[in-house]
Amino acid sequence: MTHSFTQLLICPQTGEKVFQLTDKEVVTTHCSYPLVDNVPVMLPQELLNQQEATIFFENFYQNTAEPWDYSERAAELLRHDYVVDQVARMSSLLGRKAIILDIGCSLGHITARLHPYAELLVGMDISLTAIKKARQRCLQSLPDQHNPYLFVVGSATDLPFKDHCFDIVVASDGLHGWHLSDHLQRKAVKEIYRVMKPHAYAVFTDYLHPRLHPKIEPTLRQAPWQIERIELLYDRLWYRFESLLKAFRHTTWAKKVLANKPFALFLKKIARNMGKTQSKHIAAIVSKR
Ligand SMILES: C[S@@+](CC[C@H](N)C(=O)[O-])C[C@H]1O[C@@H](n2cnc3c(N)ncnc32)[C@H](O)[C@@H]1O
Repeated sequence: MTHSFTQLLICPQTGEKVFQLTDKEVVTTHCSYPLVDNVPVMLPQELLNQQEATIFFENFYQNTAEPWDYSERAAELLRHDYVVDQVARMSSLLGRKAIILDIGCSLGHITARLHPYAELLVGMDISLTAIKKARQRCLQSLPDQHNPYLFVVGSATDLPFKDHCFDIVVASDGLHGWHLSDHLQRKAVKEIYRVMKPHAYAVFTDYLHPRLHPKIEPTLRQAPWQIERIELLYDRLWYRFESLLKAFRHTTWAKKVLANKPFALFLKKIARNMGKTQSKHIAAIVSKR
């Protein structure tokens, strides 16, 4: 456990600073949180006990080797490329390596690609199993001695971080992917805003039916940041194609086709020409004034 954690972490229930960090727990004035395999589990008690989503995601990771099969599905690989490109652009606009938070980092597919842009890179997920696997992936793929990573279990709705500590926040397939009620979704938006430094950026992506895309902007307007861009990823044809191949999805040839990025890019080109309804994923870039 490194010193940097004490500089970032707060109690997600009371907002109190961490005053002690042992090899077993993180202690604040009124609460303590366990360290499991060196990962702080900073979930408020009510989330641990009651929230179906917490249990749902943890069970999902315990029972499935790679939920959503991200590394085998070209549309998801292109979406990850999109997020990494946005972070690269943000870091270059900032003119330096950034302090980055990847919320809902899952198995670390995106997190593991962000280290070139990071002075400090925090991977957070609601599932401990996901975080342990993300840590393994990220540390395995480190090219040199500099290790920018910290990992924590926490919820987007009650971020266990001090105000104004991140330059870049990634919420990729988050706001809707986290299965939150409208109230909790608003809370997550406000929490993300709270932990962003002035002039920080955040990138959001979400998988939604195109008729629900107009919901993204009012959701993001819950925080007073500037919405720089809302973009479509034009991946609907790819998902249609994936549905068509459903019956063959375990065959080698179908797997090859579905993992093929040039083919996904080709479908994206066609989808773009067909118009706005041809995107499932919508993305947004915001900046804190
Ligand atoms: C759909 S996946 C997206 C994974 C990855 N960010 C990506 O873009 O490929 C959503 C992830 O968010 C995590 N998650 C769910 N609820 C969360 C919450 N309230 N706070 C933080 N992470 C959450 C899940 O465990 C899961 O790993």
